[in-house]
Amino acid sequence: MSHLFSPIKIKNIEFKNRIVVSPMCEYSSEDGFANDWHLVHLGSRAVGGAALVLTEAIAVSPEARISYGDLGIYKDEHIAKLKQITEFIHQQGAYAGTQLAHAGRKASHDLPWNGGKQIPSDEPNGWKSAAPSAVPFIAGEEAPIALDKAGIEKVKADFKAAALRTLQAGFDVIEIHAAHGYLINEFLSPLTNHRTDEYGGSFENRIRLLLEIIESIREVWPAENPLFVRISSTDWTEGGWTADDSAALASILIGKGIDLVDCSSGGNVATAKIPLKPGYQVEFAEKVKKESGILTGAVGLITEAAQADAIISEGQADMVFLARELLRDPYFPLRAAHLLGQEVKWPDQYLRAKWH
Ligand SMILES: Cc1cc2nc3c(=O)[nH]c(=O)nc-3n(C[C@H](O)[C@H](O)[C@H](O)COP(=O)(O)O)c2cc1C
Repeated sequence: MSHLFSPIKIKNIEFKNRIVVSPMCEYSSEDGFANDWHLVHLGSRAVGGAALVLTEAIAVSPEARISYGDLGIYKDEHIAKLKQITEFIHQQGAYAGTQLAHAGRKASHDLPWNGGKQIPSDEPNGWKSAAPSAVPFIAGEEAPIALDKAGIEKVKADFKAAALRTLQAGFDVIEIHAAHGYLINEFLSPLTNHRTDEYGGSFENRIRLLLEIIESIREVWPAENPLFVRISSTDWTEGGWTADDSAALASILIGKGIDLVDCSSGGNVATAKIPLKPGYQVEFAEKVKKESGILTGAVGLITEAAQADAIISEGQADMVFLARELLRDPYFPLRAAHLLGQEVKWPDQYLRAKWH
């Protein structure tokens, strides 16, 4: 059997293969509501054979959205459509997960296809963003407010309420978004966290918010359901968060009920230079896995069946998260199985298209 299509059991779930649909913002919601776009988009990737379909970043509060088009889970009314989506994903033999997120200082932006710029808080579709410290992502942009203690408590409560709704919507997996320069990442990195209280300064203080959010989520999220964290493994910037910090964090997360660390990178510093090449972040998944013993996910420019299979067979990561390749081809897993000579179950409706 190919390594890519070997099952993996995490907590109460046996994933049929190692392919995860990486979270991808669709900017297609109104007031956070999922709609038929999300049903078809996520549903197609479940039909295509991925073992785990993660939704895009789903905002835990209205102000936690990157844009006014973001998916949200801050109202009970959001649950019904999400439930329809998870049920469809389950019918295809896949599991459903969501990525609980708070955009921090990168909130209140326009849709990418409208230019993606920050929307000032006094303009329509804009609001005041919040961060560990009152420093904007890009010099000259409106600064976020620095969260006070009450603000931090609200963030934790929002994640907890969102986790409960996640369960009610039928999701099997939560991924906490602690990457890409959004709120939790802003707390983790010394480049964006200039606080002098117990949430800033030392490594222990900067990881505190993430650990407290995990605790809040675990109060409502069943112990037998997988809980992942996506991190930016490095800031790619001198003086910033490093791969060593990621491994040290993972060693702590493993004792906090986290099952898998999804190792992305960057996004916290606008000027960072990222050396893009195929599989450019796999080294982080490998390092974090080897040094902490936690399961890891590799992500970033993974586009080929043999490449994905090698990442698993060489023990560099336990799962591969694919984003853009799955936008080009939602059936990548079925195609990859064919290329690797692996027999997998096809949807009955598509059997006549199977390669022989
Ligand atoms: C359209 C689009 C939307 C994305 N939205 C998210 C998101 O909501 N959360 C996240 O963690 N990463 C997001 N990403 C990053 C991807 O999950 C992934 O980490 C990145 O694209 C690298 O993987 P790839 O080379 O397979 O595309 C997005 C990427 C794309 C292309």
